[in-house]
Amino acid sequence: GTIVLGAARRELSDEQFRQQMFQAVGKYSRSQPVEEALWSEIADCWHYHRLRLDQGPDFQGLAQRITDLEASHGSAGCRVFYLAVTPDLLEQVACHLGKVGLNRPAVQDACVRVVVEKPFGQDLLSARGLNECLLRVFQEEQLLRIDHYLGKETVQNLLVLRFANAVIDPLFSRQFVDHVQITTAESAGMEGRRGAYYETAGALRDMVQSHMLQLLALVAMEVPPRMDERAIRNEKVTVLQAVAAITPEQVAQRTVRGQYVAAGDRIGYRQEQGVSPDSDVETYAALTLHVDTWRWAGVPFHLRTGKALAAKTSQIVLVFKREPINLFGELSCDVRGANRLIIRITPNEGMSLVIDGKVPGVDMMLRPMKLDFSYGASFASASPEAYEHLLLDAITGDATLFLRNDEVEAAWRIVDPIRASWNATGMPKLIMYPAGSQGPDEARRLLGDPYKDWFPL
Ligand code: BG6
Repeated sequence: GTIVLGAARRELSDEQFRQQMFQAVGKYSRSQPVEEALWSEIADCWHYHRLRLDQGPDFQGLAQRITDLEASHGSAGCRVFYLAVTPDLLEQVACHLGKVGLNRPAVQDACVRVVVEKPFGQDLLSARGLNECLLRVFQEEQLLRIDHYLGKETVQNLLVLRFANAVIDPLFSRQFVDHVQITTAESAGMEGRRGAYYETAGALRDMVQSHMLQLLALVAMEVPPRMDERAIRNEKVTVLQAVAAITPEQVAQRTVRGQYVAAGDRIGYRQEQGVSPDSDVETYAALTLHVDTWRWAGVPFHLRTGKALAAKTSQIVLVFKREPINLFGELSCDVRGANRLIIRITPNEGMSLVIDGKVPGVDMMLRPMKLDFSYGASFASASPEAYEHLLLDAITGDATLFLRNDEVEAAWRIVDPIRASWNATGMPKLIMYPAGSQGPDEARRLLGDPYKDWFPL
């Protein structure tokens, strides 16, 4: 069986660790109640080892413990290290693992993989430094940089939607698409514990550099020649590299940044624990990017993300061009909008195609109708959590849904000039928006047309 070894600085016995894990599974697992018989079967393979991450000699003990456990359980195959550690410890931990030889397989035909959590640096320079350090100890093929958005069912379905359906992918192009809106909005703020981290990040680094650019890459990438990890990641990098560089003047026009302030019973960002009372970290960012490829030239990609907004909604909307002549102009009612394909990540995972249809009756009245698909209604089995999927991939060694270093660097190349320009010019100004709202109204200006608007959260 698979051995799980928890390692952290606290003193815990194996039994205490198992108890904690049992409680955690009881609290968070999507299948309830936990079957005790099944649990006790696997719990025997769960162990704990006290490890101070900044103490090199402790890693000798860790190496020994792993060898002993493998011997006693009779398993010596692949080892996966999951480094859920703060960024400042990551380099040290990698070096310590290397020094005691844990970066190499213990036996022939076995393997060692390392899962690394974001943030992958603070900017391009620090990301490179971090990567160089990791590559001194591990091979690129051993590194699994996790972006949990790629483990979400709808996000993976984007590839199927586009590349397994002859009628869909042709729509993903400048010929049909007027603009694309990508939203990852959250209703939660800092929840009392995230403030200190967020002060070092902000929405641009935390969400845009990672999840949002990954979504953009999957929407905009070209058809890969094969569905394998190398081919897919090659196409993602290519499209990220094709995102047009944004000049400081454009940053002022094409970005909006905001911060939530107290409203109703909700506190503002500056009152959050761990946040400076005069912080100007953005909790909201909206921006317009252009993808300079044959397929997408001229189509704006509008991205927005924020904390403490009206709802938790993640979705991609392809807004299509209007029909060339409005033949029903006089007859249709005013609720007609552009056709659109809505790809819902949260809530209610699924997708809808919104087109106009005729309202029943003798009059020729038109109204938008939805061709709707939702996972919940169509499949009896619930989707696995993103992390369930990705952890299994890490164990089996499928890196398709993990980030390659060049993808991470390409994403920093897109956001670094925006951050630099914000810092240098202070433009656009940070806009305060009430907690629980739609975010700053100024984000409408990115759409560039008074008749176009963001879809409401
Ligand atoms: C994380 C960010 O990567 O993603 C958080 O650091 C954010 O700030 C979270 O809240 C959102 O993930 P999800 O799956 O809840 O949309």
